[in-house]
Amino acid sequence: MVSSAHPLASAVGLDVMKNGGNAIDAAIATHFALAVVYPQAGNIGGGGFAVIRMNDGTISSLDFREKAPALAHREMYLNADGQLDNLLSTHGHMATGVPGAVDGMFALHQKYGTLPMAELIEPSIKMAQRGYAITPLAAELLNTKQEEFQTHNRWSTPYHSDQNWQAGDTITQPDLAQTLEHIQTNGRNGFYEGIVADQIVAEMQSGNGLISYADLKNYQSVWRKPIIGNYRGHQIISMAPPSSGGIALIQLLQGTEGYPIADWGHNSTKTIHLMAELEKRVYADRATYLGDPDFVDIPVNQLLDSLYNQQRYADISFDKATPSELVSAGEIPSSESPETTHLSVVDADGNAVAITTTLNSSFGNKVMVKGAGFFLNNEMDDFSSKPGVPNQFGLIGGDANAIAPHKRMLSSMTPTIVTKNGKLKMVVGTPGGSTIITSVYQTLLNVIDFDMGMQEAVHAKKVHHQWYPDEIRVETDALTGSVETDLEQLGHQLRMTDKIGRMDCILVLPDGRLEGGADPRGDNTALGY
Ligand code: GLY
Repeated sequence: MVSSAHPLASAVGLDVMKNGGNAIDAAIATHFALAVVYPQAGNIGGGGFAVIRMNDGTISSLDFREKAPALAHREMYLNADGQLDNLLSTHGHMATGVPGAVDGMFALHQKYGTLPMAELIEPSIKMAQRGYAITPLAAELLNTKQEEFQTHNRWSTPYHSDQNWQAGDTITQPDLAQTLEHIQTNGRNGFYEGIVADQIVAEMQSGNGLISYADLKNYQSVWRKPIIGNYRGHQIISMAPPSSGGIALIQLLQGTEGYPIADWGHNSTKTIHLMAELEKRVYADRATYLGDPDFVDIPVNQLLDSLYNQQRYADISFDKATPSELVSAGEIPSSESPETTHLSVVDADGNAVAITTTLNSSFGNKVMVKGAGFFLNNEMDDFSSKPGVPNQFGLIGGDANAIAPHKRMLSSMTPTIVTKNGKLKMVVGTPGGSTIITSVYQTLLNVIDFDMGMQEAVHAKKVHHQWYPDEIRVETDALTGSVETDLEQLGHQLRMTDKIGRMDCILVLPDGRLEGGADPRGDNTALGY
């Protein structure tokens, strides 16, 4: 089964498995297909993370996160008055980190692939050449982005339109097809060197971008040890720094385990209050301690220590909310140290992969590389550009996540695999910036505590707190009865929001069949055979 953000991409992955490929082959093919049919987040100009569990129980995780260019520096987004210029870190060439996606797909393939890479890229080349019909949601989104595309590009990209895009319109991408052919013919060097590198560097030079030939040539994804924790008899396998996802998820689950939330009820006042109180404390730790492990010492063992978390949560009161200004990061003596997309794949042998990948914002920095036909990320905004000043997700941070040359920016991406009694149970993940961690957290609780099926757990309305701003974001219709007034009486500020997350998940049912969970908030589709 493949669950991804677009039906055409899920179909590509499914075909790969029908033709004898394994889950990793299918995930690679789906990733390239998303770069064609889901350009707001699917990408070759961005980066992400993969968590893998093979059917023999071996686990691994790959970091193909973008890196700061060599010329990046701590104050690059501050103006003459020392104020943060958010536009520079989110829009245009300067916002771009060195892309990791193509290197990541080749690293995955080298370790686990069984079909030739050329075969996995071929369907995406065809879709880029022949065109694909856009969905109603895609048409709506594209129509909101026209002005930004025009401001940030020197040419008319395939996504420009003088008239409104309509559902069913076809978009062909000959430049992107050619770029994919270069990758198909020349491997990872087909992107990081040669004509595509020329096109990226020329694009950078046209708009004060910093990425150089050396930045591209030297990019390397990194195999990292997954973060592992336990929750009510399940093993949780998730992503390590530079994603904050795995550590934060395990901290949240540790704080939840002592409470009978199944008895309290899904989205009840008490359950939401507990989640919000835990989240404030966990996001305060995130802001203080987490960053790129190749640059800062992260106190991973302490943050995952159950005694540390028990003490951290000891001041939670069930009578009133703790104001965020009274919450700070836990004391750790001498530190050791919106738009993304996710896909989950499980093959017939039980191999599983969870990949979350991103350009950061919708269509990244809005710049499409001229001649090469793909959007660039604006991942530099995930750094803490000025301590204490929020980024586009309202997240704040400090030194651990300050900009430095070649450093990876902190992420919230949380591709996660769950096992029970040594057997695969769930593959989970979502986009959503800072809400990724809490969406994955709630989806696990929905299945494990609230006994929901996979689709129901994905569909269920979500809530979110991230320490600052001091508010619970509440998805429309998430709260029933008096929960809203009860939470306000406890001292919580509520902010209603349209949608949280776009999950793509797979659950292994007790009889071994797979249940997909594809988010109705988007065009997400789970396909199996
Ligand atoms: N760009 C969103 C994240 O990595 O958290």
